[in-house]
Amino acid sequence: MKKLAFLIFLATLVFTCGNDAKDSSKDSASKPAATKKIDDGKGVGSVRTVKLNIPLDAKMVASGKAIYEMKCSACHKLTDKRVVGPGWKGLTELRKPEWIMNMVMNVEEMLEEDPTAKNLLKQCLVRMPNQKLTEQNSRDVLEFMFSLDGQEVGK
Ligand code: HEC
Repeated sequence: MKKLAFLIFLATLVFTCGNDAKDSSKDSASKPAATKKIDDGKGVGSVRTVKLNIPLDAKMVASGKAIYEMKCSACHKLTDKRVVGPGWKGLTELRKPEWIMNMVMNVEEMLEEDPTAKNLLKQCLVRMPNQKLTEQNSRDVLEFMFSLDGQEVGK
């Protein structure tokens, strides 16, 4: 009986999430065709190109780590385990840098319009709140993510 109640609970959650997804697709369908975007893997937002550092900039990595500890660690672990949000290990290999920065700076629109972000929301069932990072702070967090995935950090 308990198990059944739990299943119903889960079904309700999934159902709510499914409704969200339907609403947002209705929104984008009613927009004029000109604003329809082809998914280039860079996400939805102002960041179209990111210049990468080889090796990584140690100061930016340190700044990104501090921001992570203050504003992200409650929901994201540095392993591949999901807590509230997905773990960050391997993220830089999975997503384009532009996508990651747009997800951080423009999460509301990403969750409405970007197919990858919409899928994550379906799995996680929680909307990531906008942490209001500046572009520089988001870029620092990205540098920290690259360091997690084993890229060399300079002096
Ligand atoms: C309250 C919990 C919460 C906080 C705090 C949070 N996130 Fe998230 N994050 C999520 C959830 C949940 C998702 C999955 C998408 C969704 O369901 O909204 C996510 C997804 C992401 C993703 C995409 C992950 C992937 O697998 O592609 C990135 C990148 C990200 N968050 C970065 C950040 C950064 C950077 C911070 C801190 C500045 C942060 N998040 C703070 C909950 C959170």
